[in-house]
Amino acid sequence: MNSHYVIRDTSQIFSPGLLFYKDLIRANIARAVELAGGAEKLRPHVKTHKTREIVRLEMEAGIRKHKCATVAEAEMVASCGAADVLIAYPIVGPNCGRLTRLMRAYPHCRFAVLADHPAGIMALAKAMSTDGQQVDVLLDIDVGQHRTGVAPGAEAIELYEMIHRSPGLRSGGLHVYDGHNKQENFVERQTAIRTQLEPVFNLRTALVQKGLPVPRFVVGGTPTFPIHARHDVPGLECSPGTMVLHDHSYGSRFPDVAGFTPAALLLTRVISRPTPVRITLDLGYKAVSADPPLGNRCLLLDVPDYQVVLQNEEHLVIESPVAERYRPGDEIFAIPTHVCPTVALHRQAYVIENGQVTGMWDIVARDRVLNV
Ligand SMILES: Cc1ncc(COP(=O)(O)O)c(C=O)c1O
Repeated sequence: MNSHYVIRDTSQIFSPGLLFYKDLIRANIARAVELAGGAEKLRPHVKTHKTREIVRLEMEAGIRKHKCATVAEAEMVASCGAADVLIAYPIVGPNCGRLTRLMRAYPHCRFAVLADHPAGIMALAKAMSTDGQQVDVLLDIDVGQHRTGVAPGAEAIELYEMIHRSPGLRSGGLHVYDGHNKQENFVERQTAIRTQLEPVFNLRTALVQKGLPVPRFVVGGTPTFPIHARHDVPGLECSPGTMVLHDHSYGSRFPDVAGFTPAALLLTRVISRPTPVRITLDLGYKAVSADPPLGNRCLLLDVPDYQVVLQNEEHLVIESPVAERYRPGDEIFAIPTHVCPTVALHRQAYVIENGQVTGMWDIVARDRVLNV
């Protein structure tokens, strides 16, 4: 096991426990700043950690812009004193009025949101203008994930013009997330990005030629931002999230995104050895995210030659030829395969510094509603 992960006294850690290694988090943030080419080119996504203290570590590293997926995350970030928060999500229904209340509650912070449809733009414009406020709206561009957004082209131009002339809205630029670009081969990923971005660059040029302001170009996640960072486009902001804590999935699939270390682990304990070849751990899918396939929801460190055979809500059952070495109470460290939903399963994380537990951080924005 990486010597960074050793904890001298684990007797106060309840398992399954989420561990945040503060120095590794700091180093991951510094590496992201380096790869982006400066803190001003980074708008890290908060959804990975949902934690005030990590927002503050990002701010200490010079980061002034933040990305979120939910209103609760936006409120948490604004409550840290952040001045620029993008909710990278279309705002619909009662969340339109909620956004006006959020803006009133945090007047020092400039908020921005996404839109990709006339109905969403109209509802937001109505809520904002009725309340006498103005919010920045980025047009969400679909470059192939087909999750949200509009393809670059004539419809995108019309929607951007609509945002520009709507009362209560300011045209805030383009949002270009490419979460489908998970090619493990670096050259293939780079080529896909080049092909997909060309029409978006053309769209940007067309908007500028029409005299429309395009102040931001928000692009990329962890596997793609080092490539995007090299693009020479005004207002470029890279928006990776996972890299702050990093995980087994990205670590094993994208070796070219180098220099990040998994900084969030799980401490689990053996609770039973039901057969001579089986070990049961207290690491069910209420403690580690179950979105990866059964056999690969986490990497157990220092357990040789094991296979996952079953996982329930509070149990992880593995088989290993060395099962008889283990006894109830024995501790195993695990790297989650998908760290973002794993973190959201825990109310608090143990903070580890210099091999010791030095505190607890609340995963504040795992709640859907804070104050607003
Ligand atoms: C809109 C958006 N931006 C940025 C990110 C961050 O990507 P990653 O987790 O690869 O760093 C995500 C991840 O889900 C996302 O949905």
